[in-house]
Amino acid sequence: MNIGKLMLNGTLILAPMSLVTNLPFRLLCKKYGVALVYSEMTFSEAILRQNETSIARGFTCDEERPLGIQLLGAKADSIVRSARIVTKIFRPELIDINLGCPAQSVIKNECGAALLKKPGTVVEIVEALSGSLEVPVTAKMRILNSLEETLELARLIEKAGADALIVHGRTQKQQYSGKSSYEFIKNIKRELSIPVIANGDIKDEKTAKYVLEYTQCDGLMIGRAAMGNPHIFRRLGHYLDTGELLPPQTPGERLDDFFEYAGLCRKYGLLGFRDIVVKAQWFTKGMKNVKPVRVKINRMTDVDSVLRVMEELRADASGC
Ligand SMILES: Cc1cc2nc3c(=O)[nH]c(=O)nc-3n(C[C@H](O)[C@H](O)[C@H](O)COP(=O)(O)O)c2cc1C
Repeated sequence: MNIGKLMLNGTLILAPMSLVTNLPFRLLCKKYGVALVYSEMTFSEAILRQNETSIARGFTCDEERPLGIQLLGAKADSIVRSARIVTKIFRPELIDINLGCPAQSVIKNECGAALLKKPGTVVEIVEALSGSLEVPVTAKMRILNSLEETLELARLIEKAGADALIVHGRTQKQQYSGKSSYEFIKNIKRELSIPVIANGDIKDEKTAKYVLEYTQCDGLMIGRAAMGNPHIFRRLGHYLDTGELLPPQTPGERLDDFFEYAGLCRKYGLLGFRDIVVKAQWFTKGMKNVKPVRVKINRMTDVDSVLRVMEELRADASGC
């Protein structure tokens, strides 16, 4: 798939996810063959205020490229100015605009999914971004209540100059309830000439194949199913290429991924206690006999103690 001048080596894309898709996690997904990764959403006004944490969300390295930086904002002018700042510092391969976040704090600021009800503003934003950046521009939207309204917005986004459209097939009101509508996504794909990427509830090999075939989309974006499970990109990619299911990762392999994540966090100065506790839970989800380990971790107060407990678990898993 090509997004503007960017040629992607595959159809699988990592979704932008706040507090999840930091550089270390994106690097793990890259190791398992993901074709494109996105940063966590970054508030354009915060970038303009020189907020260091917000700017640092675009931090990248050559091994993970291509990278898309996702911006969140309400006004074309601020979004373009913040896009110029991050493209200058980090040189991402593309910029994405968030038209889907349903969080109250985001809606209150008229950003994210709030923009779905302001097609005029969406057009201004996409036109301004695509007219002033050298890199391709993507938009990530949710659907609206009716198919006609959704198609109308999708058409406007294409006409405004977006190089690809990502569609999460849920409305703002649904948040994460119900199911992603592949029916809406299929209709959008049929309507547009730019690449359309399907998103929502793609959690295993069979769903991935079904969604690609049913919607005829150009790519698939995976979010929650990758949390603590970057290996999903290898599984899905292998299945789409060969029709064969790979055996699941062993507990030892999953723990190796966890330690690789922790090591990369240390390397990039991102190793934090709360994050590592959450990630220890995610990377061990569904493993047998893990409950006592979780209980132990919940009593810990520092990163090194958590890593020690996880190291014991790894030693048990490898039969040492
Ligand atoms: C923890 C979490 C954080 C998210 N953060 C973002 C974000 O920063 N930007 C965005 O466009 N979507 C965000 N999303 C939505 C996902 O990108 C994706 O659209 C959604 O989870 C549906 O895909 P999935 O079913 O594969 O998870 C987030 C979702 C989750 C679960």
